[in-house]
Amino acid sequence: MNDTELRARLVERLTTGGHLRTEPWREAVSAVPRHEFLRGGFFQEVAGSTPTAWAPVVEDDPRWLESCYEDVSLVTQIAGTVVPGDMHGEIMRAPTSSSTMPGLVVRMLEELQVDTGHRVLEIGTGTGYSTALMCQRLGDDSVTSVEVDQDVSTRARNALGHCGFAPNLIVGDGLARYKDGAPYDRVIAACGLLTVPRELIEQTRPGGIVLVTLCGWLYSSELARLTVHPDGTASGRFLGGQVSFMLARPHLPPPLGLLPDLDEGDERRAVFGADVIDDWNTRFVAQLAVPRAQRVGLTREGRTQHLFLDVDTGAWAVLREHDGWWTVRQNGPSRIWDTIEAHITRWRGAGAPPLGEFEIIITSERPSITWPGH
Ligand SMILES: C[S@@+](CC[C@H](N)C(=O)[O-])C[C@H]1O[C@@H](n2cnc3c(N)ncnc32)[C@H](O)[C@@H]1O
Repeated sequence: MNDTELRARLVERLTTGGHLRTEPWREAVSAVPRHEFLRGGFFQEVAGSTPTAWAPVVEDDPRWLESCYEDVSLVTQIAGTVVPGDMHGEIMRAPTSSSTMPGLVVRMLEELQVDTGHRVLEIGTGTGYSTALMCQRLGDDSVTSVEVDQDVSTRARNALGHCGFAPNLIVGDGLARYKDGAPYDRVIAACGLLTVPRELIEQTRPGGIVLVTLCGWLYSSELARLTVHPDGTASGRFLGGQVSFMLARPHLPPPLGLLPDLDEGDERRAVFGADVIDDWNTRFVAQLAVPRAQRVGLTREGRTQHLFLDVDTGAWAVLREHDGWWTVRQNGPSRIWDTIEAHITRWRGAGAPPLGEFEIIITSERPSITWPGH
């Protein structure tokens, strides 16, 4: 198949999958050649690798063109600098830029509820593919996109230019203020956020929409649509679907530093084992309770230990399983696992409402996220 046929097949699949719902976005996906934004190649996960290894797939690889039109995310940068053309073999570091899976891109664009004439701010230009869809739909002058990485932004600018698009591209932290184009009718983040910075709310007009994926360091996340109110607050709901994104760079967790002495502190039998947070929604609730905690898997004397650590305060909890029951040992200025257990117990006591029923209110930097009856 050539790229036109592959694009038509993608449009059909996204329509059947329920992501692509309206004609203007269908036209945009039909018109924008995703492969032009992936000319530098992408990284493919090496099957079965732990930790995950990535191998480059470049333009002259026979898999390249067809993969550009699969409904998958394609990693385009690793460890902040490495691009597919730079290397042979495999690399075991974290992805730092990608072309988001088209199904999620169009789902978000649909959820953004844009209309002709709207001015949109995008955070995380990445390859520029989603930016191009917005330019196609709204016109270059209506689209501003911010990318924190200079090289990534330059590659996106070239690809956009090659396809005939010239939006306002900014290199910088998208969580800062860009008042030149403000007020925006719509703000969309293509990277995950821990909080919703005041700047994003303040530069959106009253009645405007901010679409963000709210994440945490326990790695449960959800897409949220917030409406900005005339008093400068915003509120909204989660839209479901277990959406995950790479975190905005300023929201990445701090380095772990020296691990604590896990023989210190107080031990008790745990009400919930560490496996309680294998469930996505329960993990989200736990993360609300301890937003600064990171999870670290450790093996000691052949047994797995589950460490939850707040690097800033030094508080920690470590859980161990013993034939179907669990103990927790905790230390530091707060009791991380006590807090998680109490929060999960309250949520379950309210009937464990799904995330779609939670209410999000932004009055200050940290969102207030509550379930009905909380
Ligand atoms: C998932 S990619 C974006 C995908 C893009 N929408 C596409 O279709 O190709 C996320 C991007 O956000 C960028 N990013 C991370 N933190 C950022 C920040 N604070 N401001 C702006 N861009 C950021 C990353 O460098 C990365 O390129």
